Amino acid sequence: MIEHKRIRCGGLRSKVMSAEQAASFITSGSTVGMSGFTGSGYPKAVPLALAEHIEKEHAVGRPFRVRVWTGASTGPELDGALAKADGIEFRLPYNSDPVVREKINSGAMEYFDMHLSQVAPMAWQGFLGPLDTAVIEVTGIRPDGALIPSSSVGNNKTWLDQARHVILEVNSWQNAALEGMHDIYYGTALPPNRVPIPLVRPDDRIGDPSFRCDSDKIVAIVETYAPDRNLPFAPSDGTARAIAGHLLEFFHHEVAKGRLPASLLPLQSGVGNIANAVLTGLLGSSFENMTAYTEVIQDGMLDLLTAGKLRMASATAFSLSPEAAAKLNSEMTSFSDKMILRPQEISNHPELVRRLGCIAMNGLIEADIYGSVNSTHIMGSRIQNGIGGSGDFARNASISIFMTPSTAKGGKISAIVPQASHVDHITQDVQVLVTEQGLADLRGLSPKQRAVTIIENCAHPDYRPALSDYFRRARDHSYGQQSPSLPGEALSWHQRFIDSGSMLS
Ligand code: COA
Repeated sequence: MIEHKRIRCGGLRSKVMSAEQAASFITSGSTVGMSGFTGSGYPKAVPLALAEHIEKEHAVGRPFRVRVWTGASTGPELDGALAKADGIEFRLPYNSDPVVREKINSGAMEYFDMHLSQVAPMAWQGFLGPLDTAVIEVTGIRPDGALIPSSSVGNNKTWLDQARHVILEVNSWQNAALEGMHDIYYGTALPPNRVPIPLVRPDDRIGDPSFRCDSDKIVAIVETYAPDRNLPFAPSDGTARAIAGHLLEFFHHEVAKGRLPASLLPLQSGVGNIANAVLTGLLGSSFENMTAYTEVIQDGMLDLLTAGKLRMASATAFSLSPEAAAKLNSEMTSFSDKMILRPQEISNHPELVRRLGCIAMNGLIEADIYGSVNSTHIMGSRIQNGIGGSGDFARNASISIFMTPSTAKGGKISAIVPQASHVDHITQDVQVLVTEQGLADLRGLSPKQRAVTIIENCAHPDYRPALSDYFRRARDHSYGQQSPSLPGEALSWHQRFIDSGSMLS
């Protein structure tokens, strides 16, 4: 007799079926809201079964494509498999899957890249169209039918509320001790009925530990035992350590000036290797009793929690290497009172980021001499990942920091350019820029002062003379003197790379 241990609501056990049977509820042309955020908590069986079904349909000449909404990036069993089967017509929001990226960049898939805090409100408002099916991974189902969230919360509450029908994956690989770690806030509303969100400290709990779900909408439950996609972080190299060093020096300076408290302000740390390296840098620092109000909990944050330097972390998902995920899984109970996972419209909420005064630290693709930041597009047209939560945090943080190596692709690309080929973060939202060369504190500076500081402090020496030369000539010949530019030349560095494979002349 099958025990269905994680499905504690007896009435729902009759809905257990295979992934193939569950996938048959999804029809071509429909919209599917999937769980999943930065490789954690995404469904791992139903999307694979759906991809197989789509391939069979295509083999007999029947078109089959769906619209996919998620929390953020997922894993190869979801985005990768569906994209390989050419089964995704439209996708939102953040993506880091290479097959999806290729489909978007070749024009085969439509992609709506949006602020992660705005996905749920836009779905409530109906801008995104109706949601047919929610496919949500959960850790278990309680006797009262409430759903115990998995290793990410993302937009699951919204997908469960909005979908016409629901497919659940109950993944017993997820640690049962996740129960109680989540805080699902149900008090959000649309204007004119919106009220203040009652969260004033990162550790405040303002919601339920589980999702509510109308059990009549649940059409299928699939049991799985499958790990999250956990990718290793690159070990900190000299570049990452130098960036972390400049940032730590800046924090000490701000504390000494009395502009930051000794335990800093709630930290937000973006995705990627550099962001993780900065957290590792904080581990060796003298800062104590810190908190995090952030989007994802990476390895570096887990280490800070273990060392007791970070008192607690609030996020919407884990984004861990395989080793860190194994450590978390084996020591889950010791972390349970130090971590809170929330819906992404709360983890990234502008009202809360502004109220808490977060220190936002995010990566970038390129910045220009005035400090406009491109987080998303290579050479102005190819998407890398997406804006993610960087805009939610950058605009509202008390200090908005962006960091990057000063060059990419073995030095053939300068991360500091005359003009950004695409802008995600305007100069007003970029207060501090850091590369391994140094840190530019741009607060209170005019555009021309910003340009001098960025070129001197952040640009790589191979590109500094050409940037200074451009800026000098722009000052001599510009149409206006507020933000001097030479429009005919400003994007020539990108064109040179496209033509010759290098920005160096
Ligand atoms: N031109 C061309 N390619 C560039 C580039 C540039 N100026 N800067 C970086 N790249 C390439 C790198 O070469 C690398 O390519 P590869 O995968 O082929 O090796 C890729 O972009 C990623 O760069 P990497 O240096 O490994 O950086 P990262 O892991 O720190 O990620 C971002 C940097 C910008 C891609 C990442 O931070 C991101 O997606 N940001 C947007 C979302 C965000 O900030 N989310 C956090 C909010 S909570």
